[in-house]
Amino acid sequence: MASKIVSFTLNGRETEVMVKPLTTLQTVLREGLDQTATKTGCKQGGCGSCTVLLNGEPVLSCLLPAEDVAGQNVTTLEGITPVEGLHPLQAAFFDNFAVQCGYCSPGMIMVSKALLDRNPNPSREEIVHALTGNLCRCTGYEPIIKAVEDAAERLKGAHNGR
Ligand code: FES
Ligand code: FES
Repeated sequence: MASKIVSFTLNGRETEVMVKPLTTLQTVLREGLDQTATKTGCKQGGCGSCTVLLNGEPVLSCLLPAEDVAGQNVTTLEGITPVEGLHPLQAAFFDNFAVQCGYCSPGMIMVSKALLDRNPNPSREEIVHALTGNLCRCTGYEPIIKAVEDAAERLKGAHNGR
C-alpha cells in the first residue's frame, strides 16, 4: 500500500504529513513532526505514556493509526504548554513532586486536562478513575492525585480572576 498525505489540526495548527499505512500517531508525532513530549512506553496500550487528546478526549497514540486522525484535532503536551511558564497542571505536578523521572508525566497531564475540562470539580475517586490506565513507576501515585486536585483549585482561581 502506498503512503498518503494526512491532514489534521495539531495543537491548533493545520498540519500535513506523509504517512505509511498503519503507522501509529505516536510514531508520526515523535518521528515525523518532532513532537517528543508524547512518550513511547509499552506500545501495546498498557501504560498510557503515549496519551494525547483527540477532539479533547484522551486516546492512546500507540494504538491509533495516523490515517484515522485526518480532519480531526490532536493536542499534545506541547500544545498546552505556554510559550513562557507552565500550564497550571504542569505547575501543580512540579510543586507536588508528581514528576520524578517524568516519563509518565505527559500522559498523566493530558488525561488530567481532559478530566478537568469536562469536570472542573472532580472527586478524588473521579481523579483515580481517570488515571487508571496510566502507569507510574516512581511516585506511588499519591503525589499525582494531589497534583490534579491542586490544579483544579488553581484553574478555578484563574477563572475567578484570583
Ligand atoms: S506506549 Fe501507548 S499505552 Fe504504552
Ligand atoms: S515519574 Fe517516573 S514513571 Fe512516573
